[in-house]
Amino acid sequence: MVTRKAILDLEKQIGNTKLEQYNGKLANNNKLFIKRECDNPFGSHYDRVYLALFKYYETKGIIKPGDKVFETSSGTAGASFSAIAKKLGYKPYLAIPKGVDNAIIKTIKSYNTKIYFTPEKDYITGFPIFLRKFKPWEKGLFFLNHSMGRKADKGYKDNDITLKALGKIAKEIKKQIKVDYFIPATGNGSSILGPSKYFDKKTKVITFESSQSAVAYNLLYPGKYKKLFGIEPGTLPKHKLRGTSYQGINFPHIEHAINKKIIKDSLLISDKEVDDNYNKLTGKNLFKELPHWDSIKSEFGRSTRAGIAAVKELSKETKNKTYVIIAYDKANRYDY
Ligand SMILES: Cc1ncc(COP(=O)(O)O)c(C=O)c1O
Repeated sequence: MVTRKAILDLEKQIGNTKLEQYNGKLANNNKLFIKRECDNPFGSHYDRVYLALFKYYETKGIIKPGDKVFETSSGTAGASFSAIAKKLGYKPYLAIPKGVDNAIIKTIKSYNTKIYFTPEKDYITGFPIFLRKFKPWEKGLFFLNHSMGRKADKGYKDNDITLKALGKIAKEIKKQIKVDYFIPATGNGSSILGPSKYFDKKTKVITFESSQSAVAYNLLYPGKYKKLFGIEPGTLPKHKLRGTSYQGINFPHIEHAINKKIIKDSLLISDKEVDDNYNKLTGKNLFKELPHWDSIKSEFGRSTRAGIAAVKELSKETKNKTYVIIAYDKANRYDY
């Protein structure tokens, strides 16, 4: 089977992103390297994923240029999906929650994507409800579903194409440095599980996520959040770390990473808004003690700033260690 030129061209442009040393301060002679996935042509690690998904389904004869393709996303994946669909001659359709930053919606619209907005209050938990009503498969749309694969009988499993595509991130890093700590965000679990498989056994994987959601945290330490903070995870209004974890959907990649004990710890990261919401509800200020992503000034998007805040915290307890985070996207994809 000969791969067509449009795919080969994208394969030359996507991946092999720069690994850059963080130039801010870290305690105890620790070092932080940032894998600049934001420099992929369509702005994130999801460029790797959609190129791999389109290539796989096209090579299998399941889709062909001109077909309508469908995806759900909180923004970043939607931009890569739309851009690569357009480049390869597909017609993209996307469900996205209302209230996502205009900056990313504008980018997605520039690829002529047909957008369906799901209710803002449901955030990503609105997707299963939308899918049950909209039934893309009955409308001739092929659903790529980057965050999970379908079991032959019933239910969901890992999406091995997504995981393999993101595994290349670790393979590229390993050629350049020895990694003591890999610190990915908890989103749908893909950027945890994909690269983790390819790092050495000695590399410790510690994730981070909003103190509002605490999905991985609550799976790792059942009941601890409620005990510490007096509320259940997910009780406070929606957090602003777009693309990262949110209570209400069980993603197979997160469950796999927890069950196989790949994630050693999960750090909760707060911001002023979550602090204030917590204070309004409980009268307490416990979240103020946590690392804060909005205290980090950077060219990067919020989840990457949260990764830097996480490493600053972790590095207080280690000496001469090498940390790696992913730069998921840049600040220009957010309204403020
Ligand atoms: C900005 C941003 N950061 C982090 C993540 C987490 O990535 P993943 O869910 O692929 O592990 C995402 C996911 O979409 C994202 O959009």
